Amino acid sequence: MEIENYSHMSFKQDQPNILTKKMMNCTRCSLRSGCRQVVPGEGSAEAEIMFIGEGPGQKEDELGRPFVGAAGKFLEEMLGYINLKREDVYIANVVKCRPPGNRDPLPEEVEACWPWLLEQIKIIQPKLIVTLGRHSLERFLPAQKISQIHGKALRRDFPEIGRQVFYALYHPAAALYNGSMREVLIKDFKRIPKVLEAIKNSGSEIEEIKEEKVPEQESLF
Ligand code: URA
Repeated sequence: MEIENYSHMSFKQDQPNILTKKMMNCTRCSLRSGCRQVVPGEGSAEAEIMFIGEGPGQKEDELGRPFVGAAGKFLEEMLGYINLKREDVYIANVVKCRPPGNRDPLPEEVEACWPWLLEQIKIIQPKLIVTLGRHSLERFLPAQKISQIHGKALRRDFPEIGRQVFYALYHPAAALYNGSMREVLIKDFKRIPKVLEAIKNSGSEIEEIKEEKVPEQESLF
């Protein structure tokens, strides 16, 4: 896929907004016709950490913002444990429109929305991508199982976005009412600053993932 070159724009802060405007007009899959509004993502354009969830729920669909329901409150609580606020990070989803009845996004919906996510990553250039839940993890590291790699940082090379470090977490909504998963999630979350530090200090201990096939992409632009 061909990725737009944003380097001619002087302010990095403007770039997510420009992309958001494009996403608002997206009709690449049928989700748009069944939801109230697009939930593009939000946060700091300078964020070192990008959180990627699955897709908007009811509250997100109402407000047009990611993670503003119960799972979002829990996410904010956990950000507090590592002395961050949601404005310090970037929060996005694999699909930008709410699947009807909060069902799982279909493979073709994830596929249709994927170029937007790549654009967001390209603009934000996070040092660490934290995947929230199975769908988000699957998109980036399809051969990995969340139960085996949660709390582990893995690096993978993508032709469109270069080498990225991923840190898989259980989804806050899944962990919210599950005591043991909640404990694991909080423990993993509290390790994020250490992972970030390791990345900044050469990151040589971060495992490299090579074997996975990168899905074929079409160009959006
Ligand atoms: N769950 C998600 O995966 N994303 C949201 O934005 C909200 C809930």
